[in-house]
Amino acid sequence: MCGIVGYIGSHQAAPVILEGLSKLEYRGYDSAGMAVFDGKKIGICKSVGRLKVLEELTHGGATMPGTVGIGHTRWATHGAPSNQNAHPHYNQEETIAVVHNGIIENYLPLREKLVSKGYQFVSDTDTEVVAHLIDYYYKGNPLEAITKVMNRVQGSYALGILFAEHPDQIFAVRKDSPLIVGQNEDGCFIASDVPAILKYTRKVYFIENQEVVRLRADHMHFYTVDEEEITKEPVTIDWDANAAEKGGYEHFMLKEMYEQPKTVTDTLMPRIKGNDIVIEELGMGDEEIKAIRKIFIVACGSAYHAGMTAKYVIEGIARIPVEVDVASEFRYRNPILEEGTMVVVISQSGETADSLAALRESQKLGHKVLGIVNVVGSSIAREADNVMYTWAGPEIAVATTKAYSAQLIALYLLAMKFAKVRGMLKEGEFRSMLGDLKRLPGQIERLLANKQRIQRFANRYIGAKDVFFIGRGIDFAISMEGSLKLKEISYIHSEAYAAGELKHGTISLIEEGTLVAAVATQDALFQKTLSNMVEVKARGAFVLAVTNEGNTDIEKAADYCIYIPRTNPYFTNSLAIIPLQLFGYYVAVGKGCDVDKPRNLAKSVTVE
Ligand code: M6R
Repeated sequence: MCGIVGYIGSHQAAPVILEGLSKLEYRGYDSAGMAVFDGKKIGICKSVGRLKVLEELTHGGATMPGTVGIGHTRWATHGAPSNQNAHPHYNQEETIAVVHNGIIENYLPLREKLVSKGYQFVSDTDTEVVAHLIDYYYKGNPLEAITKVMNRVQGSYALGILFAEHPDQIFAVRKDSPLIVGQNEDGCFIASDVPAILKYTRKVYFIENQEVVRLRADHMHFYTVDEEEITKEPVTIDWDANAAEKGGYEHFMLKEMYEQPKTVTDTLMPRIKGNDIVIEELGMGDEEIKAIRKIFIVACGSAYHAGMTAKYVIEGIARIPVEVDVASEFRYRNPILEEGTMVVVISQSGETADSLAALRESQKLGHKVLGIVNVVGSSIAREADNVMYTWAGPEIAVATTKAYSAQLIALYLLAMKFAKVRGMLKEGEFRSMLGDLKRLPGQIERLLANKQRIQRFANRYIGAKDVFFIGRGIDFAISMEGSLKLKEISYIHSEAYAAGELKHGTISLIEEGTLVAAVATQDALFQKTLSNMVEVKARGAFVLAVTNEGNTDIEKAADYCIYIPRTNPYFTNSLAIIPLQLFGYYVAVGKGCDVDKPRNLAKSVTVE
């Protein structure tokens, strides 16, 4: 999704902005631009394509001198990717420049109104409306003009704004789109995400909805939409800056897959105290846990798949009914949330627009929300009633791996805690599960060490047209994530099916050589899945099987087998997903795809 960086201080702004934008590239974008005040006027340079193009055009920022500026990477929503539609956007006199993340929902009537007043538009974007509307209200006081605009526009926005008449200031505003500001001894920064300014400062302020910031070189002032000044407390970001670098790996995705043993340990171990699970941040006592009648898990994409796994685990061991919903559906379907329903929203970024809206919808209906979130201080983390962090650190590759693995761990912990408190797990079973959890990091390492075998297999499938992933129970949830990993980065069509459902239609798509990846880690369902493998093999499929060590029977029905170490059946997802991630990765690498930044995708989907 779009990225914003701004700087005002004693250094040249353009190189700082380019550097910051490069740290946001992972979010996905199709064009980039900068506006810098050069002492007389605001100059803008923008271009469709990668940030590299903008760097070349400006000679690394050297052709745009000045110590105050704003920059943007755009992910097109309104208007195709083009030079005209790239940000920043000017007002007509080129005295105001604006960068924007989000969507101005009422931009059409506003545009018509502005056109009727003589304003001319040069782009198809909703953002240009903001530039002209600020101009319309601007009578010499930027803050007044900005707050008037905030009262007129509907939708979501994070804005960075420059005024040629006030070149010693940058303004930043936000509603439902993330924005932070930070400061060091050399100046002040705005950014849509922490990695953009981590190199310069670790002291950041999270801007809340409907707040405005006025940044000068040496200080910042915060205001409400009523222009009242407010004070805010900074947050110190303690991420390891190297964590956001590739560290010698070919891709962030590979590096992040390799970080999974650590991620799992970091999410797990602080919550295991002796022989017990303690989730302090849950904010629920035993009586409240016993009173839960139903759990709603709401999320998008891979986080939704983690939720699907959790349904099997929570229902299986804690015997609490679980409904899992895609956030974009949940928010509009008037869900029935009865008394005793607990809502869990899962999100890596904590900024996914639909998940955030689902959280708010649940709170509006009077329900507390537990957020399972990776990015500290993100919108979902701040708005949820309680937050359980997945300690995966910054995840840069668009295709999630380590954050997904951390989500699974958080959900297993929740399931076991609930099961124990509700008397559904005997002490011995609970301890044995704890032991299995603690062994997962080492087992994941073993699977990662097997990457060359998977790479060789993946190389045979770079020309595949369709791939099907099948499994039953938890294995179906793993299949969903395995399928998404493959298709989102390799652009090969793939689908996940509950293995028993295949013969109700989809099996007609199987032809000679079609790859079917069958996941069969659940002993109780093993024979059933085996039969489904035989069915597809009989129709010409090439069957790749993922199963537990020792299940050599599978070789009767599979053409290629990957064995995973034995663990508790509820935790097999954490192991089976590793070869599937590696498979998707190596197919995409073999095809020469842009693995970390797949086409059309954004890391954090902050618009609907
Ligand atoms: O940041 P979130 O976890 O809320 O993001 C949800 C999805 O957009 C995300 O998982 C997406 O499906 C990834 N591309 C999967 O790799």
